[in-house]
Amino acid sequence: MSDADKFLYGDRSGINNPLAQADWASKKLVWVPSEKLGFEAGSLKEEKDEECVVELVDSGKKVKVNKDDIQKMNPPKFSKVEDMAELTCLNEASVLHNIKERYYSGLIYTYSGLFCVVVNPYKYLPIYTEEIVNMYKGKKRHEMPPHIYAITDNAYRSMMQDREDQSILCTGESGAGKTENTKKVIQYLAHVASSSKSKKDQGELEKQLLQANPILEAFGNAKTVKNDNSSRFGKFIRINFDVNGYIVGANIETCILVK
Ligand SMILES: Nc1ncnc2c1ncn2[C@@H]1O[C@H](COP(=O)(O)OP(=O)(O)OP(=O)(O)O)[C@@H](O)[C@H]1O
Ligand SMILES: [Mg+2]
Repeated sequence: MSDADKFLYGDRSGINNPLAQADWASKKLVWVPSEKLGFEAGSLKEEKDEECVVELVDSGKKVKVNKDDIQKMNPPKFSKVEDMAELTCLNEASVLHNIKERYYSGLIYTYSGLFCVVVNPYKYLPIYTEEIVNMYKGKKRHEMPPHIYAITDNAYRSMMQDREDQSILCTGESGAGKTENTKKVIQYLAHVASSSKSKKDQGELEKQLLQANPILEAFGNAKTVKNDNSSRFGKFIRINFDVNGYIVGANIETCILVK
């Protein structure tokens, strides 16, 4: 197992645990709203017309909850699923729980259908090396664990196959990781779409592309309460490819000035 595996595949050995499955079924586990935690797991004890009695798993406390406020819990086999579109019970509590569980296991990327949800790890993860780039090259989305590289590769292959422009939108609140993930998109494309013949050396154009960002950040970023390296304007980065899929140029337009 390589260093990166833990941060890509995680540990899903618990998913076929018969005990967990039995627990889930016999206790009728559900999610109830919690002020502190968002949602808390509980065992459904009584069900009357409008109101239910739920015993919270962690504290053992019994609470009365309105039936409409209860959300179903997925069986344990869905624990830490890579694509949340697969969840049987698709509700807010389950989505939040899945992203949280994955994050606590070091997995920051999770698919939700066509989207890729990312949680900022605020620490270095060994999942952006050249070795990992090569692992994702030309693979189908569901052959590999969720990653920004898979999204990028998918866009690149679609462009080559359908001969149509593709775009990747990074969105989220300040400090979410838009700028960092955008750089990974460029890094990946510079690697797989490099015109350079030698595998070791990146082409001049690709180098320029990667080097443009630090300059833009030096002038365009500032420290805020939310992010030490906060972009003060949005960027539209266009990368042009030739018919063979090699990068032939790029330009960056700035937009959405943030005061
Ligand atoms: N994948 C990651 N791995 C390690 N650190 C990360 C990652 N993503 C984000 N970070 C850390 O979080 C910080 C904030 O991320 P980033 O600048 O990308 O946020 P942003 O969404 O662009 O915010 P803003 O809207 O303020 O520009 C980065 O400077 C970096 O330290
Ligand atoms: Mg930014």
